[in-house]
Amino acid sequence: MPVTIVLGTQWGDEGKGKLTDLLAADMDFVVRYQGGHNAGHTIVVDGESFALQLIPSGVLNPAVTPVIGNGVVVEPQVLIEEIDQLEARGVDTSRLKVSGQAHLIMPYHVEIDRVTERYLGKNSLGTTKRGIGPAYSDKATRVGLRVQDLLDPKIFREKLDVVLKEKNLILAKVYNRLPLSADEIAKKYLGEYAPRIEPLISDTVALLNDAVDSGKRLLLEGAQATFLDLDHGTYPFVTSSNPTAGGAITGTGIGLRNISKIIGVAKAYLTRVGSGPFPTELFDEYGTMLVDRGHEYGTNTGRRRRTGWFDAVLLRQAARINSLTDVFLTKLDVLDPFEVVKVAVGYQCDGERYDSVPYHQSVFHKAVPIYKEFPGWQCDLSDVRKRSDLPKQALEYIEFLSEQIGVPVTMVGVGPSRNQYVEI
Ligand code: IMP
Repeated sequence: MPVTIVLGTQWGDEGKGKLTDLLAADMDFVVRYQGGHNAGHTIVVDGESFALQLIPSGVLNPAVTPVIGNGVVVEPQVLIEEIDQLEARGVDTSRLKVSGQAHLIMPYHVEIDRVTERYLGKNSLGTTKRGIGPAYSDKATRVGLRVQDLLDPKIFREKLDVVLKEKNLILAKVYNRLPLSADEIAKKYLGEYAPRIEPLISDTVALLNDAVDSGKRLLLEGAQATFLDLDHGTYPFVTSSNPTAGGAITGTGIGLRNISKIIGVAKAYLTRVGSGPFPTELFDEYGTMLVDRGHEYGTNTGRRRRTGWFDAVLLRQAARINSLTDVFLTKLDVLDPFEVVKVAVGYQCDGERYDSVPYHQSVFHKAVPIYKEFPGWQCDLSDVRKRSDLPKQALEYIEFLSEQIGVPVTMVGVGPSRNQYVEI
């Protein structure tokens, strides 16, 4: 069966883009299935760095058709800017397809995301303020505008007028903001964006299923991650879509039985941006070392990421929820100078031991990790390309993680470049 899913198993920024880019060499299609331009994938090819937010990383491979699936929320201006930037650097984007069923991010979504975060104050979620949550809410309440509406100016305007009336009331009466103009929005979306996006709009459900039927190889690329999933994450500190494997099915329209591999990407330590519980978070010099060595600042927003030790409890849960077949462990080299490396194997909460994630969020907020300690390898892994060249301490760490997760770690990243990885 020709379909592989690549997804994040932690709180995002695991390095999914690197794996997707690597696997794209053997793929015919690379498909984004959820999220929007809240994602940020960095890929380094021949020393040149590409930061992508919406367009699937596979675009860099000329044999790949990149697809933005129906589960994604699309900010048209960002999409156009990304196409223009890639083209300016010599990357051909003409193969890109965008689902007509995907929803559009509108200016009022961004405005509402901003004012709501401000209104929540110290209880804010720490969103990327890109309008993601408001766009998915409109999808769920059935007042969203879809990419295909760009093809029909009359329908677009009718829908916009209805929804904007309500949004303007909220903006003006609740948040004391100026109302937005329907004419200006329509002028931008229909006048500027539609002509650029129209040629890309496709029936991606048919396209992808035909591809599966004719034996083509497909990679479904998740954005964000398991513990930012609207259903399975640390709610409410989550994103508004389903980055987990189930989201790949609904976000593309490809049937369950076609999936052959589900690769979970996990950082060799842990990071999180924004608010929410994080039991293994470090506030000491080790945490700072992880930030510095791992360049732990958001690709997109530039925010400093929170850092901590690897949490095997989370990974066990991610393995179950996603039916993982493999784990790709990234950024192992970041741990090179550490004398000691720790892994959380369970939690202590209110005097009780937990070997799985407590379902009650209030308990999880109080979780104190139970650690297993490993001696560090204290040597440079960045040039290692073979399993047999890995120091025994690093191998011991990898093997312990496989055992804890219950899914084999089959690849390990040892640096940002495409070729810096080791097959285990
Ligand atoms: P939103 O997706 O902008 O609504 O933000 C909701 C939460 O998801 C916040 O905690 C964000 O920091 C987090 N988030 C969204 N996208 C990413 C990502 O690509 N990497 C890591 N965290 C993310």
